Amino acid sequence: MHHFDYQNGSLYAEGVDLATIAQEVGTPVYVYSSATLERHYRVFKEAVGEKSHVFYAVKANGNLGVLMTLAKLGAGADTVSEGEIRKALAAGIPPGRIVFSGVGKSAQELAFAVEAGIYQINVESESELEALSGIAAARGKRQAIVLRVNPEIGAGGHAKITTGGAANKFGVSWSEAERLYVRAANMAGVSIKGLAVHIGSQIFDFAALEAAFIRMRGLIENLKAQGLPATRLDLGGGVGVPYEIGYPFEYGTDSLQTYGQMVRNVTKGLDVELGFEPGRVIAGNAGLLLTKVLYLNERADRSFLVVDAAMNDLVRPAMYEAHHEIWPVRKSESGTTRTYDVVGPICESSDTFATERILPELKAGDLIAIMTAGAYGASMSSTYNQRLLVPEVLVKEREFAVTRPRQTFEELLGLDRTPDWLA
Ligand code: LLP
Repeated sequence: MHHFDYQNGSLYAEGVDLATIAQEVGTPVYVYSSATLERHYRVFKEAVGEKSHVFYAVKANGNLGVLMTLAKLGAGADTVSEGEIRKALAAGIPPGRIVFSGVGKSAQELAFAVEAGIYQINVESESELEALSGIAAARGKRQAIVLRVNPEIGAGGHAKITTGGAANKFGVSWSEAERLYVRAANMAGVSIKGLAVHIGSQIFDFAALEAAFIRMRGLIENLKAQGLPATRLDLGGGVGVPYEIGYPFEYGTDSLQTYGQMVRNVTKGLDVELGFEPGRVIAGNAGLLLTKVLYLNERADRSFLVVDAAMNDLVRPAMYEAHHEIWPVRKSESGTTRTYDVVGPICESSDTFATERILPELKAGDLIAIMTAGAYGASMSSTYNQRLLVPEVLVKEREFAVTRPRQTFEELLGLDRTPDWLA
């Protein structure tokens, strides 16, 4: 379910023709749909219960327009760096709705978060706990925290995005969790509120999530039985989205209702405030990468469709062998199809968006949309090959706005400094 669809044979984002955006902003360009973001946020919130805290994972898509759209609906933010906290604040998300996660928060970042008065820091190791307590106490503050526990149950769409396994770097070990909790409860600079867990991303195996949540429930009950304060349980993100037809769920409805029901069953009667950190399921199919065919490289046994977007703009296929659907912006009238390898201009073979993909026949100058690129698309982009960061456009009904202009060559060249001995 999303708001990208054909009208009279042309692909539209809500009420805006993508060809118009390509003409006015150029390609490649990311295009986001407000209605899709809003719809997914609302469905998620309803599925997990209106009383739950929903902290949108900024890492999925930190575009200011996207964040402001979600902020207006009351969303909080899950952040993993000072940059993300600053971005969330700039979007109007109040500090009281921001959580800060991550295994390697620097002293400066912790101090920044404490001073900003953010809602919760998800602590991931004993040494981070010591550092944070010292930093907060030195400022005369007690920072609200939860302890992120590694439940030794991982899941995810790819080994590189599985985080809950015992071999993964995330969280304190299951066997140490109780000792650290007691320790935190006696520290001057922190106020321990509960637990956090996040076992991976692009998850359809809800049984794995359930097993991890059941472990957390058991630990909360055990802590409460000892008279320790435990009023918050942050269940992370991770709900998968269908990148291609044939996934177990329709986008965001069935899956979220099933997920919400599972959470309710597991947490029934447990007197805690629930928190969630969804990223992909909110932003995933709310965005696409619009790109233009530059050339056709026809060989005897293969046809390469060379487009102007590349792996620096959308790294997911290169990094995780991820599948993204590809839609032509202008529907073919002839109905002729061809088998293409869709590739970018970058000088490595991993710069491939699709291999042996059956698509309508295309020619140089045609526009195509790489779908479900709203999460971990622009946010993971780089300037590899000295390519300019692509612009981002937010659509709202029949209007659109460039919420990030294309980087300029002046900006790109301005990043470097000349060493004195070469000047
Ligand atoms: N909370 C924590 C602590 C996380 O580490 C993540 C994602 C999330 C929440 C949001 O997870 P989501 O709901 O989006 O699954 N770049 C990869 C995905 C990396 C996910 C990292 N952590 C990709 O493109 O598939």
